[in-house]
Amino acid sequence: MTVSIQTPTPNPFTRILSVGAYSPSRIVDNAEICSRIDSSDEWILERSGIRERRYAAEDESVIDMAVKAAKIAIERAEIDPTELGLILLASCTYPYLTPSAAVQIAVQIGAGGIPATDISSACAGFCYGVGLASDTIRSGNAKYALVIGAEKLTDWFEEGDRSIAFLFGDGAGAVVIGASTVSGIGPTVWGSDGTQTQALGIAPSFIDQRKDPINNVPMLYMQGQTVFRWAVTEMARVAKEAIDAAGLTVDQLDAFIPHQANNRITDALVRALKIPDSVHVSRDIVTSGNTSAASIPLALSRIKAEASVPSGGIALIIGFGAGLAYAAQVVTLP
Ligand code: UT7
Repeated sequence: MTVSIQTPTPNPFTRILSVGAYSPSRIVDNAEICSRIDSSDEWILERSGIRERRYAAEDESVIDMAVKAAKIAIERAEIDPTELGLILLASCTYPYLTPSAAVQIAVQIGAGGIPATDISSACAGFCYGVGLASDTIRSGNAKYALVIGAEKLTDWFEEGDRSIAFLFGDGAGAVVIGASTVSGIGPTVWGSDGTQTQALGIAPSFIDQRKDPINNVPMLYMQGQTVFRWAVTEMARVAKEAIDAAGLTVDQLDAFIPHQANNRITDALVRALKIPDSVHVSRDIVTSGNTSAASIPLALSRIKAEASVPSGGIALIIGFGAGLAYAAQVVTLP
């Protein structure tokens, strides 16, 4: 006898309902960075666009920051946390392999018991999360989903490491995604290049550390120029594909929110995509630094806070980084 397996009733569309963000209170300017490394305010500004970044307190964790951002997003979405059907945390700096941070975040935001897991796609993680959450809701498997990007990068590099100490900061951002009667999240254009794991990551492994605890402490490493070249050459194509997949053209965008990796990468993408001057281009990196998976929701939150683009405006979001991995979507702003 043929059986028919029941599936949930799909939702045609999804959209981002709200955004929340949390930045730690400690501001670290370029002068402070230059007190620890051989560099200058001019060099850091010119090479990255960064003036200052935020550092979490020693006892402030990825979970603490994620919970603060998530609570704001949930309140703004005007839903009860128990209505969430999925919680995704994008983070590459949560310092435990298991259990996931997301299950603990769920409890702290009043959503204990709800499906929750972590995504390890570094700077692409938030857009991976948006794609997975949106598709889960469209399939009918959840009504609302919470996607968080939260990072405490300062745990993973030496303050005296000249190659990266000026670049990274800490913070968290979150969005609530829900079913919608109109299309608010376009197709995800995503992918990876696992031949370039040496370009960016955290190494050596915890197993290596057990063999030599002093010399094998896992730390962030980055071949800056390799990542830079890949981003400026490959990500314009990915961004264009995401705009095409949404059935739009560049001049229909209201905002461009790339991962805040480096202002020169953003400039190169703006040039390659021929983004018109009328489009708001996120430059949150100037005061937040590069916060990996948190950078896009932090930039999104700034757009809302400063009312740079009205609610309902069309934005391109694109995340890229360690893997190498990338993901992009066109979305309407909450
Ligand atoms: O978010 C995840 C993805 N990450 C990224 O997308 C980051 C991509 N990479 C970058 O953003 C850039 O590679 C950096 C901002 C990290 C570095 O900029 P760069 O223009 O690639 O610098 P570089 O490593 O090529 O170094 C250029 C020069 C060198 O001097 P010489 O050999 O030309 O005399 C370095 O020694 O700048 C020197 N330099 C510094 N000078 C002052 C390197 N680091 C510093 C420093 N301060 N901190």
